[in-house]
Amino acid sequence: MVEALITVRPARLEDASEIAATHDTSWRDAYRGVIPGRELERMISRRGAEWWRSAIRRGSRLLVLDFDESVGGYVSYGRNRMPSLPYGGEIFELYLAPEFQGVGFGRKLFDAARRDLAGHGLRSTLVWALADNERAISFYRRLGGDVVRRAPERFGDELRDRVAFGFE
Ligand SMILES: CC(C)(COP(=O)(O)OP(=O)(O)OC[C@H]1O[C@@H](n2cnc3c(N)ncnc32)[C@H](O)[C@@H]1OP(=O)(O)O)[C@@H](O)C(=O)NCCC(=O)NCCS
Repeated sequence: MVEALITVRPARLEDASEIAATHDTSWRDAYRGVIPGRELERMISRRGAEWWRSAIRRGSRLLVLDFDESVGGYVSYGRNRMPSLPYGGEIFELYLAPEFQGVGFGRKLFDAARRDLAGHGLRSTLVWALADNERAISFYRRLGGDVVRRAPERFGDELRDRVAFGFE
């Protein structure tokens, strides 16, 4: 039997187009009907390959799921951006292309990001999800996160609730 080679590794410049494609399909899949359509298109169109190339060049913390030399998902993370919440690190984005969901890769990316944060002294972690993104909410609950804050987020003229999960 031939087994696929699956690794989690730091993103490289040559991954930029595949990360952009993963971002596009994953965001459409997760947010269609959740984020107003025009705003969603605007958010996706801003994140082309050049945007990702520049993020990688800047040294942003970004890991990819490498599945037989194709990018199946990514996680980006860094310092918690909301100092009023007592968490050192934050997972900014965690997205898998639909065909890679539901088989443990989300947990794999999440754990890898947390390990890297802890290695930089950031042991507790915060992550935000839209309250209507039921898959993400169930996932973060299952991983042991506690809801520590709710806050509205503006998308054009409309507001949506987002929820912060804390991981000690
Ligand atoms: C949310 C997401 C990252 C989860 O990754 P995943 O690979 O599908 O999840 P995993 O297979 O690693 O699941 C990890 C655990 O969560 C549980 N879980 C995952 N999705 C679940 C769901 N919809 N309902 C209940 N439990 C769920 C799994 O059963 C598993 O539990 P176990 O390890 O105890 O068996 C992924 O589905 C995704 O990319 N979704 C679209 C984008 C998105 O919403 N990202 C988050 C934005 S904040």
